[in-house]
Amino acid sequence: MFPDETSRSSALYQEARRFMPGGNTRTTVFLKPYPIYAAKGEGCRVWDVDGIQRIDCINNFTAAIHGHAHPVLVREAMDQLRLGTAFGMPTQSEIELAKLLTERVASVEQLRFSNSGTEAVMNAIKAARAFTSRPVIAKCEGSYHGTYDFAEVSMDSTAANWGNGAPRSVPYSKGTPQGVLDDVVVIPFNDVDGAAEILRARGRDLAAILVDPMPNRAGLMLATPEYLSMLREVADEIGALLIFDEVISFRLGQSGAQGLWGVDADITCFGKIIGGGFPVGATGGRAEIMQVFDPTEGKPAVPQGGTFSANPMTMRCGRAAMEMLDEAAFAHLDNLGERARAGIDRAFRDTGIEGQTTGYASLLKIHFTAAPITSYRTAQPDAQAASRLARLNRELLNRGVLMASYGLMALSTPMTVDDIDDVVAAVAASLKSMTE
Ligand SMILES: Cc1ncc(COP(=O)(O)O)c(C=O)c1O
Repeated sequence: MFPDETSRSSALYQEARRFMPGGNTRTTVFLKPYPIYAAKGEGCRVWDVDGIQRIDCINNFTAAIHGHAHPVLVREAMDQLRLGTAFGMPTQSEIELAKLLTERVASVEQLRFSNSGTEAVMNAIKAARAFTSRPVIAKCEGSYHGTYDFAEVSMDSTAANWGNGAPRSVPYSKGTPQGVLDDVVVIPFNDVDGAAEILRARGRDLAAILVDPMPNRAGLMLATPEYLSMLREVADEIGALLIFDEVISFRLGQSGAQGLWGVDADITCFGKIIGGGFPVGATGGRAEIMQVFDPTEGKPAVPQGGTFSANPMTMRCGRAAMEMLDEAAFAHLDNLGERARAGIDRAFRDTGIEGQTTGYASLLKIHFTAAPITSYRTAQPDAQAASRLARLNRELLNRGVLMASYGLMALSTPMTVDDIDDVVAAVAASLKSMTE
């Protein structure tokens, strides 16, 4: 049972605390009173260091779309390992992954790789600034785009600092310079008129509008088609670039969220699933914009390197992972996602606890509220909802299911309908225990 002070995880955590602040290297995986340490994964299951097996609905925060140790990816990785992991030279593998991605996403004519979604977003912002010769970006309140200073602004604004009206630029990390806050305009998600008004007012300064079409941390609700169309229209009108952060939403289909909505971005950020389990980021867009990175005539407008950028381990496994994500794989994932969301929503109704899921395709998020969730503000859990979510997480851990502590579940291709039914049954039993 979790927590268990006599467990190996607990002992490891005590040791970790000596060498890392809070025993931790990644805030997202921190758990009180101690995080559960993974020993191995296979398919959709993970075994912890105490030998306990669980169905993995975290999947490394959406990255592991094929689960763990997929035989095809293991073979690709082993083959490349024997040939060398990274060189001070390009490899053919980067061309192949770049080709595949540009073929899938119509708005992406060229792209460049990096090692994380954070870098993908940072490079997109830098490209937009260089291309437009403007300093300011706009982003949605509550949306997470990694840890570049500008992208972090207003990530976790709260009722205490958002006031009654339009969002403000509030720091996420303590010590964020005022200059950063001044160069980020925060807009409300899914509020067509409110956001358009703010964007038009700052139009002349804006290099880019950065948007995640299904922002996970902000509530995992879909952008409305009207909202995305407005962003496209206003960006064109004011001469700013539209950046889609598809680091997570590339899970929604072969051409990502933009394929589903039929709205083209000027620049798209990728990460997570395109690395086949290895660290990755990519920034792509119209060739005309991507020229800011072109070194053929000397120092480019935006120089970009990265010791491990486009390393062949990532590139090979990324390509293999993407090739396995064909129409049938997406249909399978969509089916699992629908089943999971419907089952969990049913469990809420059956137990009478107020709650619901948001999400689409292979992603879902659990909210302990019955009120409609349309924006970051409506998705913010109150104290009771937050404590119920923490309790659900603990109940699920003890029923063999891994869920991200903030309620996210990301499904994987090795999962079967039976696995989903097990997850739903675990949620239903957990909710029931919460009524007793
Ligand atoms: C939408 C989005 N953008 C960017 C990032 C940053 O990616 P990374 O953690 O690889 O830096 C994340 C990470 O969760 C994300 O969800």
